[in-house]
Parts: sequence; structure tokens; C-alpha cells
Amino acid sequence: MSGGFVIAVDGPAASGKGTIAVGLGAHYRLPVLDTGLLYRAVGVLMQGRGQDPDDAGLAGATAARLTAEQLQDPALRTRAAGELASRVAVHASVRDALLAFQRGFAGQAGGAVLDGRDIGTVIAPDAAAKLFVTATPPVRARRRWSQLAAQGEAVTYDDVLADIRTRDARDGGRDEAPMRRADDAVLLDTSEMTIEQAADAARRIVEAARARWNTSS
Ligand code: CDP
Repeated sequence: MSGGFVIAVDGPAASGKGTIAVGLGAHYRLPVLDTGLLYRAVGVLMQGRGQDPDDAGLAGATAARLTAEQLQDPALRTRAAGELASRVAVHASVRDALLAFQRGFAGQAGGAVLDGRDIGTVIAPDAAAKLFVTATPPVRARRRWSQLAAQGEAVTYDDVLADIRTRDARDGGRDEAPMRRADDAVLLDTSEMTIEQAADAARRIVEAARARWNTSS
């Protein structure tokens, strides 16, 4: 394999993949891209302009013009932004427009960590390490609810659980295969794990991949 050491971290909503990706980036000194931010930014920008996020043409045009600065907006972290993201993410026009940016990030000479839904399948199918991070819907809902409450959002646990189930159906209900777990991704179920335990388990998976990568590159 040519290029740097790439770590793909995929998984469903609020599975903890973002925390794991950031931890791996710090440990291996690799830049990290939270690809969900790209979809969130497209949805939030469209809403700000009064546009319909279900309009594939407009959504694709918005994705094509996205800039790095637009990923810094704290509004991208809200519950509403997550919902908008999953609506614009169903459009092939949006996924295609965001492909080059993500592939460019993954192709950096020094390597990279990317977290999302289709990193191991579409964006970086040759990634040296692939993780698929998951947890049960109630556990994910509890974690996301705590996170949103800490951000000051007034939302109930039941609402968050309903969001998670809707998003699982929408994200997993697409025709194209990319949203599934890559065949060569290692499953990491963090339902019974603390953040530290999940981070340790992720590092062990990556260490094994790194040993293989070192001998093959
Ligand atoms: O953790 P959570 O799923 O809430 O947030 P996210 O990773 O920012 O993703 C928000 C939404 O964007 C997901 O529900 C997906 O519909 C979409 N997404 C995607 O389609 N592909 C990606 N690589 C990342 C996010």
C-alpha cells in the first residue's frame, strides 16, 4: 500500500466514533476529520437560506461550494444540525460533491484519521486500519442526551432515543452499500465500556493494523 497510515472510524449516530477518532489522532499524532461536520454544514447553510434540504440539486450545489471555515460554526453541533445532516446525506449529489475533499484529507502524506459512515467503504477503502464503532440505541441515546444537555439544549432522553432510531433507519435504509460496515472493519461494541476502555480497545485494534502495515509498506 502507498501513502500514509489512514485510520477509518465508522459507526452509527452517537456511537462514540468521534471521541475515539480524536483520541487516536492525538495518540498517533495524525490530523482528524469529523466528516459528519461536512453534512451538518450543508444542512445548516441551506436552512439559513430558507432552502429545502430535501432538494437534491440545491443541496449538491451547496456541498460543492463548502469552505473549511464553514466547518467551524458551533451551530453544527446541535441536535437540529444532526437531523438536517442526515436529510442532506441521502442525496448522491451531496455525497459526490464532498468526496474529493475527504479523499484529499485521507491522502495526506503523513496519514490521517477520518470518522463517519462510509470512510472504510467509499472514502478510504485502502485504509490501513478500519474500525466500526457501535453501541445499543439506549446507550447511544444516553450519551448524546448528556452531550446535548451539557451544550444547554433542552431535550428529553426519549426525544433523543427517537432521533437515534429515525437516523439509524434513514442512514441504514439507503440503497447503496457504502453505509454498511466494511467487510474488513473490526467491530468495536462500546455498549458496556467507559470512554477510557473504548479508547484502549480502539488503540489495540489500530496497533494490530499498524504492525501489519509496517511489514507490508
Ligand atoms: O454522531 P452523529 O451521527 O449524530 O453525527 P455525525 O457523525 O455528524 O453525522 C450526522 C449525519 O450525517 C449522519 O446521521 C449521516 O446521515 C450523515 N453522515 C454521512 O452520511 N456520512 C458521513 N461520512 C458522516 C455523516
